[in-house]
Amino acid sequence: MGLTGLFLICFLVVHAGINACMWFNDGGKTFTFYAHFMGTNFIVHFIEAGLFAGLLLHIVDGLLLWKQNRDARPVKYAYSNPGANSTWYSRSMGILGSLLLIFLIIHLKDFWGPNRLNQIMTGEERNTFEMMQEEFSNIFVVILYCCACFALFWHLLHGFQSAFQSLGLNNVKYNKVIEVAGTVFAIVVPFIFALMPISMYFKLVH
Ligand code: HEM
Repeated sequence: MGLTGLFLICFLVVHAGINACMWFNDGGKTFTFYAHFMGTNFIVHFIEAGLFAGLLLHIVDGLLLWKQNRDARPVKYAYSNPGANSTWYSRSMGILGSLLLIFLIIHLKDFWGPNRLNQIMTGEERNTFEMMQEEFSNIFVVILYCCACFALFWHLLHGFQSAFQSLGLNNVKYNKVIEVAGTVFAIVVPFIFALMPISMYFKLVH
């Protein structure tokens, strides 16, 4: 879970970085340059296959972990005070992850399907900048994306630190640094993502 999680975290940084080029306000020229590179480069295609494999592995691992935890204690505690022993978001990784999965299916259907999949099948490349402008002119889509970013924030709040722990990379000396870095990452990255549909809806991107 830790390894696939860190891989997905790296993907989020690249994805947010390329999308952030929309704020150059150059009619999507810079964004399209990088989007075109990502969509046509041979090495990136391999990484893309790895991304989907990593995503699938992360989900399967998460389900196995959930089952393992459930089987380890078939009879529930007569009294449990989870709030005193763990955070809400650490106990809700499954729910938050499932919400993100629903978002991802919608998200891939909106963009990846009509663009990348279509490109693989027909060789024709679409303008993803214009696709985003069209998609984010609908307030309900914007709200859905903002909710997904909120779920991502909660999921990362626990996930980032948890990945280091799972990989045995936590250490009394660095725990505080990992905790602060994880919290900052969990706030900043989903916030940047949420600003994208919002700024497009309000026509601040052109
Ligand atoms: C909220 C702002 C976001 C915007 C505007 C956005 C936009 C896009 C666009 C335009 C594509 C299509 C790329 C292509 O066809 O070449 C894409 C692909 C993708 N996005 Fe997002 N995205 C956002 C958030 C997210 C988030 C939060 C996640 C994950 C939790 C995510 C995961 C993905 C994945 C897995 C792909 C497919 C990658 C690939 O092409 O191989 N996106 N996104």
